[in-house]
Amino acid sequence: MKRGSSAGPCLLVGCGYTGLRLARRLAARGPVPGQVSGLVRSPASAAALEASGVPARVVDLDGAAALDLPRDLASVVYLAPPSAEGEGDPRLGRFLEGLGGLRPRVLVYLSTTGVYGDTGGLPVDEASPTVPGDAASRRRLAAERLVGSWCGAAGARGVILRVAGIYGPGRLPLDRLRAGEPVLRPEDSGPGNRIHVDDLAAACEAALDRPLSGAFNVADGDHRSIGAFMELVARQAGLPPPRRVTREEARRELGPGMLAYVLASRRVMNRRLVEDLGVRPRNPEDGVRESLAEMGLESRRDLS
Ligand SMILES: NC(=O)c1ccc[n+]([C@@H]2O[C@H](COP(=O)([O-])OP(=O)(O)OC[C@H]3O[C@@H](n4cnc5c(N)ncnc54)[C@H](OP(=O)(O)O)[C@@H]3O)[C@@H](O)[C@H]2O)c1
Repeated sequence: MKRGSSAGPCLLVGCGYTGLRLARRLAARGPVPGQVSGLVRSPASAAALEASGVPARVVDLDGAAALDLPRDLASVVYLAPPSAEGEGDPRLGRFLEGLGGLRPRVLVYLSTTGVYGDTGGLPVDEASPTVPGDAASRRRLAAERLVGSWCGAAGARGVILRVAGIYGPGRLPLDRLRAGEPVLRPEDSGPGNRIHVDDLAAACEAALDRPLSGAFNVADGDHRSIGAFMELVARQAGLPPPRRVTREEARRELGPGMLAYVLASRRVMNRRLVEDLGVRPRNPEDGVRESLAEMGLESRRDLS
């Protein structure tokens, strides 16, 4: 397949769980070695990339190191999260400054669906208001705006992918199930939103290839609750189902981060992902089954 407006060297900034799978996907199709490279913070992540044949740069974007990028850099997929504290996303700001005179034609930025805030279960599409309800989501929104202004000034095509909860091989809630972590009972549960990591990688690839710009929700369109998804994983992995608790009990039993995660509720619509980016996300049954298989764990198909 040809790489439309993004043909040429592509840099994946923050090449961790998703980035590594995207790097392999992009590297597999291009005949030119070294066209895809990854930027990571730690030598361990660099080693994982190199082991997959993807050239890696180790740079801490929170520091002052030079980026030393190819002069003909054509596209960037930025997958590093903002730092866990403070306002805005100075990490992203430093990266964009570090580009200096380089002018990639495409910048794809991975944001989160958290920018929509808690809608009490109501649907959100890309035209919905962004009302982030916590500091992390406010930093994301600030990052989206920085991407928009940088692309405007640089004449680059900017794509914001607003990503739901990522799952896949090695990213299933097996430890939480084994630890007996409870989930909300059905009558207290709102809709959930997820995406399989390979469907997210497909969305990144389409965002590079297709002459589109703006925001795209990346979710599989299956709105079963977090508890129902945990039950699916438990069934397929042959583990006991999670305990169902009331909101009051969850407040006592879950840590603040997990509590905020299970209580936030919105229904993320994915029409643009399917129709404009051309990605048909797999359903959770298939996604969990494939993930368990890749992890070498037998899926209990008869029960799923
Ligand atoms: N997990 C989810 O459910 C979810 C949902 C929505 C959106 N997202 C967002 O989607 C993106 C991809 O997610 P992921 O789970 O694939 O991320 P991940 O595995 O945590 O990878 C993040 C990458 O960013 C790099 N990084 C972090 N700080 C850096 C710094 N100061 N300088 C240079 N590199 C730095 C990390 O490098 P090292 O590995 O070397 O530390 C890592 O390679 C992230 O922005 C994430 O927040 C995630």
